[in-house]
Amino acid sequence: MAETSKTATLTLDGKTYELPVLSPSAGPDVVDIRKLYAQADVFTYDPGFTSTASCESSITFIDGDKGELLYRGYPIDQLANDSHYLEVCYLLLNGELPNKTELEDFEYRITRHTMVHEQMHNFFRGFRRDSHPMATMVGVVGAMSAFYHDSLDINDPWQREVASMRLIAKLPTIAAMAYKYSIGQPFVYPRNDLGYAENFLNMCFSVPAEPYKVEPALAKAMDRIFTLHADHEQNASTSTVRLAGSSGANPFACIAAGIACLWGPAHGGANQACLEMLREIGTVDQIPEYIARAKDKNDPFRLMGFGHRVYKNFDPRAKVMKESADEVLDLLGVHDNETLQVAKELERIALEDPYFVEKKLYPNVDFYSGIILEAMGFPTSMFTPIFALSRTVGWISQWKEMIEDPTNKIGRPRQLYTGATKRDYVDVTKR
Ligand code: ACO
Repeated sequence: MAETSKTATLTLDGKTYELPVLSPSAGPDVVDIRKLYAQADVFTYDPGFTSTASCESSITFIDGDKGELLYRGYPIDQLANDSHYLEVCYLLLNGELPNKTELEDFEYRITRHTMVHEQMHNFFRGFRRDSHPMATMVGVVGAMSAFYHDSLDINDPWQREVASMRLIAKLPTIAAMAYKYSIGQPFVYPRNDLGYAENFLNMCFSVPAEPYKVEPALAKAMDRIFTLHADHEQNASTSTVRLAGSSGANPFACIAAGIACLWGPAHGGANQACLEMLREIGTVDQIPEYIARAKDKNDPFRLMGFGHRVYKNFDPRAKVMKESADEVLDLLGVHDNETLQVAKELERIALEDPYFVEKKLYPNVDFYSGIILEAMGFPTSMFTPIFALSRTVGWISQWKEMIEDPTNKIGRPRQLYTGATKRDYVDVTKR
């Protein structure tokens, strides 16, 4: 629990209100305004939640000025380089790194939940083949509520646990099925002898007609992409999951809500949007025109993959992702690709350009992830589904934390109303 050590004073209409100030284990102090409305009859106003802590959490910490990201206290670069995704999943869900037996047990349980209910295949077949895989995922993950009735009771810790396992285990299968369906290939069943990332690559790229061997270095790069995206404290999609969950909605419905939110180009959809932008720019000589557009206040165009609400120094995930991109491109022998040349030159110019430097707009994780995923053979439409499957563990950990918090209440923001005041209805003949 956060400590109350200080108070803040608010003076309004000649009256003074003492507000407790909560001290976190890291990060800025938080003014507790929970009783403000009852005491002073005022709301606070913070659209976009730029200064508002919406919950207490002990999962992930970000220091945007230092460019630091910690999962349960562990720096992201250490986890990305020395750990692996399923161990990170255990850490996020349970708060501590597992010992050997705990890890083996966790991996065993996740592996045994990777298949989806066979009836779900029919559900997939109801979608148009040209559906965006994110559209399919929102629908199919929401539909898990209709398939797994024995893990819907949010008040039963065992059912919460099973639902968490199912979501972490089945999301790669669902994402791969969405992909296979969109290209008209048969679904590939999960394999228990493969690691988590390896299994995902196999479900995406193998076909029944010939053997397929997953390149270990690519599986490692994939695993690292999953780790880098696993959680990111109270971002838009996580807050969506929490808000949906605060009403008591079941975990599958909540994660479907998170996937819907993630889809937007200002959030998880930026990786697809970024690669499409690089292709649209096309050649290095076109870059100045796009930089000029990004700076023009009258042009809605933004450099996708640049900027972040919280990181104002650099995105620590982007640093690791960039190293991974170099490794993967070397491994696959991709050097002269035009998209890559545009990306490198764009990054160089933007990092030197005063507009981007002054506004602290650095490449974010999405700038590099698309480059790796494209080199691996994924179409741009699969970039955001891969983000969604990686983030599922973060969403479900945050959801569990919220449900297990005895102070949890339904999320219900207030508003600054500027519409018409009370007026009488006028019959249509008199308008
Ligand atoms: N290109 C050009 N200008 C930008 C960009 C950009 N990518 N991002 C921000 N700016 C400018 C804004 O125009 C604004 O300028 P102003 O102060 O003169 O009005 C200033 O920088 C601050 O931008 P805001 O939009 O107020 O910052 P906010 O914190 O609300 O937005 C966001 C953050 C949404 C990430 C934004 O930087 C953006 O749209 N980036 C491109 C999309 C993207 O890459 N999203 C991925 C985020 S990471 C993730 O979800 C994993």
